[in-house]
Amino acid sequence: MRIYLDNAATTPLDPEVFEAMKPFMLEDFGNPSSTHAHGRKVRAAIESARKKVAELLNCTPGEIIFTSGGTEADNTIIRSAVETYGLKHAISSPIEHHAVTHSLDLLVKQNLIQLHHVNLDEKGHVDLKHLEELLKEFPKVLVSLMHANNEIGNLLDMEAVGNLCHTYQAYLHSDMVQTVGHYRHDMKKLKVHGMAAAAHKFHGPKGVGFMYLNKDKKIHSFMQGGAQERNMRGGTENVYGIIGLAKALEICYREMNEHKASIEGLKSRMIEKLKEAVPGVTFHGDSENLDRSLYTVLNVSLPESEENEMLLFNLDLQGISASGGSACASGASTGSHVLGALYPKSKRGAVRFSFSKYNKPEEIDFVTSKLLEIYKVTV
Ligand SMILES: Cc1ncc(COP(=O)(O)O)c(C=O)c1O
Repeated sequence: MRIYLDNAATTPLDPEVFEAMKPFMLEDFGNPSSTHAHGRKVRAAIESARKKVAELLNCTPGEIIFTSGGTEADNTIIRSAVETYGLKHAISSPIEHHAVTHSLDLLVKQNLIQLHHVNLDEKGHVDLKHLEELLKEFPKVLVSLMHANNEIGNLLDMEAVGNLCHTYQAYLHSDMVQTVGHYRHDMKKLKVHGMAAAAHKFHGPKGVGFMYLNKDKKIHSFMQGGAQERNMRGGTENVYGIIGLAKALEICYREMNEHKASIEGLKSRMIEKLKEAVPGVTFHGDSENLDRSLYTVLNVSLPESEENEMLLFNLDLQGISASGGSACASGASTGSHVLGALYPKSKRGAVRFSFSKYNKPEEIDFVTSKLLEIYKVTV
């Protein structure tokens, strides 16, 4: 038996999603840009998928553009917003996903923008006062801040950030890859201009995602090609991926309250059991705080030990898939840039457990007991 607790990396496909995708892999294979019946049928299915996603996020179908995933959506929004509006500054944080940090770094290298990092508090939350100071100081600015951090789970108050950006007329991009499908988003209310999401984080297929692009803050396209996706993303659509994405999101919304409650139960169970069993255990970021972190992520911080590096390997040997990343105080090239930014001197062990609707309390108990066993052996 293997236990999968790496759902922030990717989630298993929901069988209901697979069933919805199947006809588009076999019989309905037409190119949606073709004007004949084969094409028209597929075009209609894509447009109804777009409509479904837009309904769930409370925006218009024209504001949903399908992409190959979160990375493409982040890259597109960041670069195209800077180019479209001639933005000269960007405000972001050092703990964004690499899809964001590397996009911004390249713009800096090309002398297109200056990058300003907003201060983070000791738990890794964005200092909103400092954000406002930066917004005052740097007009014509792109703000890129993620809704939830994929490693430590910290949640950002997007409404507050949206209001600030609105006041100072900044372009606001948010990577919402870890929250779409797990929380309800009302895009009419949030003052976000560009948002990135990926289907494989919510039991949809890999290689497909979308961006929400606010209709009043248009940006130009990133890729050059055909007129697909309202001229915003050339290339023949990933038809069955898009169908699967919409179905997966529909299921998430249908079952969200139930799943949130049960996954929160798993996370609390693990926190309690670890605190009972492992002396000196703490949690990275604010992942212990259920109100200010993803209910799907718990980043465990284990006391310093020479063997910490082998922890993930040993868990894997015991049939447990989780992920990690150390603060990497030694300066080696591996390790987590998120933990490195928050705990530059730490030598503690880090294991990220991330949960889904398919996990069971018995799995949590098994993993906790194995972690304890391994830990006892290694310290
Ligand atoms: C926060 C965040 N942003 C972006 C991505 C990239 O998404 P994708 O793998 O769909 O390109 C991920 C996935 O690892 C993520 O967790």
